[in-house]
Amino acid sequence: MTKKIRIIYISLSGNTKYFVENLSNYIETTKGLVVESLNVKDLKGETFSVDEPFVSILPTYLNGGNGIDNGEKEVLTTRLGDFIASNHNFKFCYGIVGSGNRNFNKQFCLSAEQYTKRFHFPLLDVFELRGTQSDIKRIANAIINRQEEFLKSF
Ligand SMILES: Cc1cc2nc3c(=O)[nH]c(=O)nc-3n(C[C@H](O)[C@H](O)[C@H](O)COP(=O)(O)O)c2cc1C
Repeated sequence: MTKKIRIIYISLSGNTKYFVENLSNYIETTKGLVVESLNVKDLKGETFSVDEPFVSILPTYLNGGNGIDNGEKEVLTTRLGDFIASNHNFKFCYGIVGSGNRNFNKQFCLSAEQYTKRFHFPLLDVFELRGTQSDIKRIANAIINRQEEFLKSF
């Protein structure tokens, strides 16, 4: 049976969706794995049990501030957290990749870091905006290696 990579993510303005499409294409063509992805934005708030290992990708949207003494509140992407929390789905999530914009300084990828504390899975990597080809190669390898490790302990 061909091994699968499942990616559960949220993309509001399309950058993460673009990255996931390129990442999926790279993994399928160079690694011989099948990729299934789900943009939680398309779910209209419903949740269901995943029951299979997956990686998550989360862009950062915070409500202002500087990420040091204020500005830590996640907005707009909370539906991904709700989906991961529902039906014990977090037990199947073996890691998260954060995305954002480095112009936000201390707030760069802060939401993904917050999810690691909330759900106790590791931050695998981060990238900016739509990512680069080198982000895709590096993150593809990080995901595949982490999934292998997770499956051994599963
Ligand atoms: C209102 C708003 C707030 C944002 N806040 C942050 C932030 O706090 N930290 C960060 O790294 N990026 C921040 N960003 C940048 C987004 O995370 C980045 O544009 C990301 O690629 C958006 O992903 P999407 O197009 O898949 O929704 C913000 C963008 C917007 C529009």
